[in-house]
Amino acid sequence: MKLARKEISKVKPYTPGKPIEEVKREMGLKEVIKLASNENALPPAPAARRAAKKALLTINRYPDGGCFYLKKALAGHLRVRPENIIVGNGSDEIIILALRAFLKRGEEVIIARPTFLIYELASQIAGARIKFAPLKDFRYDIPRMARLISGKTRLIFIANPDNPTGTYVTKKEIDFLVSRAPKNTIIYFDEAYFEFAKNIKNFPDTMKYIKNKNIIITRSFSKIYSLAGLRVGYGIAKSEIIECLNRVREPFNVNSVAQAAAQASLNDRRYIEKTIKFVEKAKSFLYKELDSLGLKYIPSVTNFVLINTGRDSKKVYRKLLKRGIIIREMSPWKLTNFIRVTVGTMKENRKFIKALKEVL
Ligand SMILES: Cc1ncc(COP(=O)(O)O)c(C=O)c1O
Repeated sequence: MKLARKEISKVKPYTPGKPIEEVKREMGLKEVIKLASNENALPPAPAARRAAKKALLTINRYPDGGCFYLKKALAGHLRVRPENIIVGNGSDEIIILALRAFLKRGEEVIIARPTFLIYELASQIAGARIKFAPLKDFRYDIPRMARLISGKTRLIFIANPDNPTGTYVTKKEIDFLVSRAPKNTIIYFDEAYFEFAKNIKNFPDTMKYIKNKNIIITRSFSKIYSLAGLRVGYGIAKSEIIECLNRVREPFNVNSVAQAAAQASLNDRRYIEKTIKFVEKAKSFLYKELDSLGLKYIPSVTNFVLINTGRDSKKVYRKLLKRGIIIREMSPWKLTNFIRVTVGTMKENRKFIKALKEVL
């Protein structure tokens, strides 16, 4: 449309994993499982559910725009000050805020390819010049990204662990990248799957850069905390950066139910341990079955697995859909033979493997 901004014309809207109800309706199925959006297959922790229920009683009021209590809890949890934290309507929102606050039209961003699609989408909308660094063996090629840095580079996006590959960038690689970034470049560490990977020996501790470097770290309540439907995530950075992000966010960006549930779930270590164990067990099962099917996959440090089906993944996707199983086919990422499957409950994983055998 002529009235739209020039930047919008090239934007392909993000296609999320199909909702369960839509597939039930379209396929006339009673039972449908979704293994498509890297959500936690377990229900949220009881404390989070109780807090959400209680918060419903006050939804006649606007939420606390400053997320005072959630930020206080996060600050304690992360050992930083509330001034170092911003809360977002999902961590996705903070990607958009970072571009809005720091990128002037025509300035550059560096993005791996393929990786989480929102970096590209949000950068296009913001009018950025995008420099892509292809992955190497399904991992971020950090030396290549470092070589792309110029005086005009405003943001470098690093998904760590990465989606859709499930691989991660090591401590040594991050130290190298940070040492190469000029002062006017912000490195954006998207750690939506952090909790799944934090115990790996050479996984980086990006928090150590908060004080002295221009970095933003984002984490999410959508994954390990199982609150994807409420949309809540957070960013951590030096207070000057957070202040800029706050200037460009909407006043009531995070709803009150999300704030309450996030706060209640934050320190539930048992729930986190339970999820980690459950995901590891489920991945071992999937790997074993995929091995016996002779299918290649990328070993993942997250709650999803990228699988090479050795054939057109769109067809595999459609056939699985008919059997009531929603996964992601990877053509939007230009990985035409690949599917990405989120770890489900053991019942769901078995159902997926059974259907996959039939389909192949
Ligand atoms: C790498 C990555 N970052 C961010 C997000 C979005 O997280 P949130 O639900 O907090 O917006 C996702 C969701 O799939 C993701 O894979």
